Amino acid sequence: MLEMGRIFINGEKITKPGTLIDPLKDVVEINGKKIIPETKKIYLAMNKPAGYVTTRAHFAGEKSVMSLLSIKNVYPAGRLDKDTEGLLIFTNDGEFANKITHPRFEHDKEYIVHIDLPLTREKESRIQNGIILDNKKTAPCVIKDIKKEPVSGFSLHIIIAEGRKRQIKRMFDYVGCSVIYLKRIRIGKIRLGNLKSGQVRSLTEEEINSI
Ligand code: URA
Repeated sequence: MLEMGRIFINGEKITKPGTLIDPLKDVVEINGKKIIPETKKIYLAMNKPAGYVTTRAHFAGEKSVMSLLSIKNVYPAGRLDKDTEGLLIFTNDGEFANKITHPRFEHDKEYIVHIDLPLTREKESRIQNGIILDNKKTAPCVIKDIKKEPVSGFSLHIIIAEGRKRQIKRMFDYVGCSVIYLKRIRIGKIRLGNLKSGQVRSLTEEEINSI
């Protein structure tokens, strides 16, 4: 292909075998098509603090989760509301991000929820069996470990396999309870563990493969 003049580097035809390039800087075209160099895949878990918005764009007056990262060539796979804390994944691997976020892959997402009022058995089973949000029934989910909290109402764990916008807050609103605290602690086999608020770690090989 070199001899046939089909390879261009930075717009210049290259015919010499053994020509070296810098894959991060040089633009290589073969048969008129740009070759995108394979970049190193990055997979990170953050314990998102409350008060940060999940966006790559910068909005005046808002703190973005991106400001907590030392690298910028990744993007959040999924989102948490500004006042929600906990596990947020960042990657530059589009396929991985899609597997985390697309409901088809059904990765469980576990949250700790504090609500203002007691969750009666009837309300609990309505949420667990599915309620109508945006004209569509939510998939069955699991609620466990309901406890009375000394100060902030009641706490519980909820495990859902979907990820609709503000889904958990809207599910509790639907049965007349307000969510006053929300933290994601698990996505599939990826656990928040003891990662401190605002800190970031790399995912393990096993966690990456589990997705
Ligand atoms: N459900 C919500 O209501 N908010 C979140 O941030 C995540 C899930």
